[in-house]
Amino acid sequence: MNKKELINSGKVKSVFTSDNPDEVIIEFRDDMTAGDGERKEVMDNKGSYNAIISSKIFKVLEENGIATQFIDLPEPNVMVAKKLEMIPIEVIVRNIATGSLVRKYPIADGTRLDPPVVQMDFKADEYHDPMLNDSLIKALGIATQEEIDILTEKALKINEILTKFFADVGIILVDYKVEFGKDKEGNILLGDEISPDGCRLWDSETLEMLDKELFRKGKDDEVMAAYIEVYNRVIPDDEKVI
Ligand SMILES: Nc1ncnc2c1ncn2[C@@H]1O[C@H](COP(=O)(O)OP(=O)(O)OP(=O)(O)O)[C@@H](O)[C@H]1O
Ligand SMILES: [Mg+2]
Repeated sequence: MNKKELINSGKVKSVFTSDNPDEVIIEFRDDMTAGDGERKEVMDNKGSYNAIISSKIFKVLEENGIATQFIDLPEPNVMVAKKLEMIPIEVIVRNIATGSLVRKYPIADGTRLDPPVVQMDFKADEYHDPMLNDSLIKALGIATQEEIDILTEKALKINEILTKFFADVGIILVDYKVEFGKDKEGNILLGDEISPDGCRLWDSETLEMLDKELFRKGKDDEVMAAYIEVYNRVIPDDEKVI
């Protein structure tokens, strides 16, 4: 496993080519950002917690029939993954209304959404990730109707699997965001990461937040304890590497 060339440095991860042209090496950095990257802080070991939690979730999803990018986690903050041509859509699934949904629509905070709401946002910080719909996605040439249907179906299946996975460790999966991409054969795979950066996770008993929302609210001194709590609950002791 050799990092070669940096091909993409995002807000929290750096993507490198590797010796294998079909694979990338994703380094999860310790950066935490909010407001399209306007606010940024460094949090000790945050990259490792997110890479380990993401790897565990990708393995659970694979066991349940969802194809993901995951290949290996050779270091706590380094994931080897299939190289994907990313689809610039953030697929968001919401089980409980909160955040931007209650700011923009007349729906009360905490309302249970059954069936879940699937939302697709254009992944483009310069436009502040505007919400898409099927005809806009096609007009922008981002995906075909068949691909939109695949993304929707996969996101809902992931929701079912992860709702149960988190419930088993006393966590409510309130909502989450995923990104997909195409491998060299054109298969649509789950890419990027699934971690407390892109999920809202609430303790089932106390409804305490265990995710990046704490940072968005300025509770910088509480956020790592929340990530570590998620890590401790979802990673069995014999799989803990930090
Ligand atoms: N398997 C993969 N192959 C190629 N690129 C990937 C893969 N998984 C994730 N990426 C991309 O890596 C980039 C870096 O991730 P990060 O989350 O730091 O970026 P970001 O700030 O969300 O995105 P961007 O810089 O694209 O606005 C993202 O653009 C993401 O889409
Ligand atoms: Mg990202």
